[in-house]
Amino acid sequence: MKKDDLGAIPRHIAIIMDGNGRWAKERGLPRTEGHRRGAESVRAMTEGCRELGVEFLTLYAFSSENWKRPKREVDALMKLLEIYLKQETKVMMKNNIKLQAIGRLHDLPESCQKALHQAIETTANNTALTLILALSYGGREEIIDGVKSIVEAVGKGHIDSAMINTEMFGKHLYTRYYPDPDLLIRTSGEMRLSNFLLWQLSYTEFYITDKLWPDFRKDELREAVQAYGKRHRRFGGV
Ligand code: FPP
Repeated sequence: MKKDDLGAIPRHIAIIMDGNGRWAKERGLPRTEGHRRGAESVRAMTEGCRELGVEFLTLYAFSSENWKRPKREVDALMKLLEIYLKQETKVMMKNNIKLQAIGRLHDLPESCQKALHQAIETTANNTALTLILALSYGGREEIIDGVKSIVEAVGKGHIDSAMINTEMFGKHLYTRYYPDPDLLIRTSGEMRLSNFLLWQLSYTEFYITDKLWPDFRKDELREAVQAYGKRHRRFGGV
């Protein structure tokens, strides 16, 4: 993908992948078929971001709230994730992509956790793009886990409560190794954050498109990055 006419390239893109179910419904297909096509968009995004020189891509693949879906759908999503991880490790190695994950990963089925840790380990030394999957992830849950971690450190005398500030708090979040996202993309036209990266999106530019996730591919990514390139970020200044 060419990047000459795009302007500034975001260093970190975060995506709320929405609309798999609607995509399937429009075609009279089962929802799981929408998720399967959505996984193809994940592959396209990873490739597209690497080609553009984006350094971090965070995908909201399964939220804390998604556990409330019918068991059949949850099982299908977990299976799809496991298959994706097993199949894509080779591709990630070829494309120099490093896999990471955030969320309450211990909630995932054993076989999924195993595939995930295997893929993370195998790709650990890759350097082109870091792909971060948010799994069993909730922004409020992450903040609570961060508070617990700080309280524990204060209790053990490792830190003084007077030292707590925004920078330090950020170091107790799942995302401590990554910069905050520059661009948030949400597909299928919804204007909500849905408990995604509540702390980290404070100064992020939002791009919302009516395209459903299975239809969001490299051309659509290009449009989003182009729109981002035209924004003027002020971070609260003038
Ligand atoms: C939203 O569509 C999507 C999800 C809840 C899951 C995202 C999962 C994938 C894209 C596939 C697997 C992921 C990986 C990383 C391989 P929805 O079901 O909420 O759609 P709807 O709002 O139209 O019902």
